[in-house]
Amino acid sequence: MLKSFRLPADHGTHVLEDYAKTRSDFDWKQAETGFSWFQTGKINAAYEMIDRHVAEGKGNKIALRYSDATRDEQYSFADLMHLSGKAAHLLRNQAEVVKGDRVFIFMPRTPELYILFLGAIKAGAIVGPLFEAFMEDAVRDRLSDSEAKVLCTTPELLSRVPVDELPHLKHIILIGDTVGTNGFYIDYKQAMQEANADFPIEWMAREDGMILHYTSGSTGKPKGVLHVHQAMIQHAQTGRWVLDFQEDDIYWCTADPGWVTGTSYGVFAPWLNGVTIVVRGGRFSAEDWYQTIEKNKVTIWYSAPTAFRMLLSAGNALPAKYNLSTLRHVLSVGEPLNPEVIKWGWEVFQKRIHDTWWMTETGAQMICNIPTMEIKAGSMGKPLPGITAAIVDDDGQELPPNTMGNLAIKKGWPSMMRAIWNNPEKYNAYFTLNDWYVSGDSAYMDEDGYFWFQGRVDDVIMTSGERIGPFEVESKLVEHPAVSEAGVIGISDPIRGKIIKAFISLREGFEATEALKHEIYQFVKNGLAAHAAPRQIDFKEKLPKTRSGKIMRRVLKAWELNLPVGDLSTLED
Ligand code: PRX
Repeated sequence: MLKSFRLPADHGTHVLEDYAKTRSDFDWKQAETGFSWFQTGKINAAYEMIDRHVAEGKGNKIALRYSDATRDEQYSFADLMHLSGKAAHLLRNQAEVVKGDRVFIFMPRTPELYILFLGAIKAGAIVGPLFEAFMEDAVRDRLSDSEAKVLCTTPELLSRVPVDELPHLKHIILIGDTVGTNGFYIDYKQAMQEANADFPIEWMAREDGMILHYTSGSTGKPKGVLHVHQAMIQHAQTGRWVLDFQEDDIYWCTADPGWVTGTSYGVFAPWLNGVTIVVRGGRFSAEDWYQTIEKNKVTIWYSAPTAFRMLLSAGNALPAKYNLSTLRHVLSVGEPLNPEVIKWGWEVFQKRIHDTWWMTETGAQMICNIPTMEIKAGSMGKPLPGITAAIVDDDGQELPPNTMGNLAIKKGWPSMMRAIWNNPEKYNAYFTLNDWYVSGDSAYMDEDGYFWFQGRVDDVIMTSGERIGPFEVESKLVEHPAVSEAGVIGISDPIRGKIIKAFISLREGFEATEALKHEIYQFVKNGLAAHAAPRQIDFKEKLPKTRSGKIMRRVLKAWELNLPVGDLSTLED
């Protein structure tokens, strides 16, 4: 592994000079003055993202450039105001959505996804985006936990929605070729034609729910992380400080809105700042990604280490074929950004890749390498103004520099989650150390105040930038007829960061074969999602368990790494 190295600070803009001035005495109240609700007292994030720019005379500016294999479209802010107004009407009149209802969106990344997303927020709903690769179990868990009233999806994905098991679901809006509307099913195309674009926006309170993202912990089912409308303060401000948004930027965030990066920084941050976004549908290919940058003249690019590593492994001759010179600023999030990748970015794009650290629960960026900072390759950067981060011990005491401990944030930033849906106990478990939010990451801070990621404290696995709870995978595995018990850990992978490895004991009468491994892999893939399926499986006679029956993943990790298994006093036998 490449050792850390330093890259000097580069471009500074008016925004970032401002940052330098405000750093020590910054208060989030200073970031509110740009919003219309600062004057009117009326809050709705969709209004601030879209309609406000039209009111300010920027209606003709392109908000969204969309392309996939068959479509190539542009939408101005005025177009999106019009279409999201229609979508809000559709949701209100036909799907009976009222303030606070959960509206889920489960579909590929197309303009309709964004239009419905905005429409739902305009109508005062709490929007729940679901990654299109989710399979039936993953969809069921999320829709039933949130008691979703409306689901927006496509006819192709409908087979993964167990409608009969979702009593709270009142309507499904179908985007695509459908047989028409029948009360339960609503034909999007037809309904949009009929809907009035002039929607009276539902004005919200600062603390009203806006978006619900499901994410995994180390125990239990995925949990719904709730963010409120005023989270937009931090989305907007970090868009300027960290992403360095300026008037003419063309911005490409490669994350799907099913994940928090794809909403906080795929939708909120750029549109709150009136910036043009690029959305590219379809699957990853290195050629396609370079082409997307060239064709759209992308200036700011926010992606993830796994994607950068895939591009890196496609070789340096490929990017040389494209004109990538429009790129001004490149950023990364989601997993450790290794110095090798930073070195590659410097060689291939002559750009410094800026790491950013945050989580679904934090709602927005917290610790970052902002453009005017020197980069120490391998470090996540420093806490933003208005954010107090520290390394604390298990009693909440701050630790001195260069000591590993829990990465924690002082409670109370604008985009902090406000609830775990229907689960106050889980929510409170994040805040057991005085005023600290405990992230679950371990890290240390160096003498210059840079934070260095060390790993997860719990068993959560980050694979290809997606967060997987081992419990969810284990629960699925034991549903397979051959599986008696299963334990899941993450193991290192040069591209994906981590991949999922399962240790499995089989039921009587089943033989440990390669064919069975494949079948079990497919079983999880078809039940949950491809990224949650174990790419490696080891069959074992027996799995190590505590006397209370919990699989000891610590021992599985030791097996994997050929390390001593440590204290086994709690082992079953
Ligand atoms: O372990 C950290 C890792 O991703 C976790 C949060 O995952 P999620 O909620 O899915 O959000 C990902 C994108 C916001 C963290 O607890 N993580 C996130 N960013 C970094 C990171 N690990 C290392 N370096 C980062 N920059």
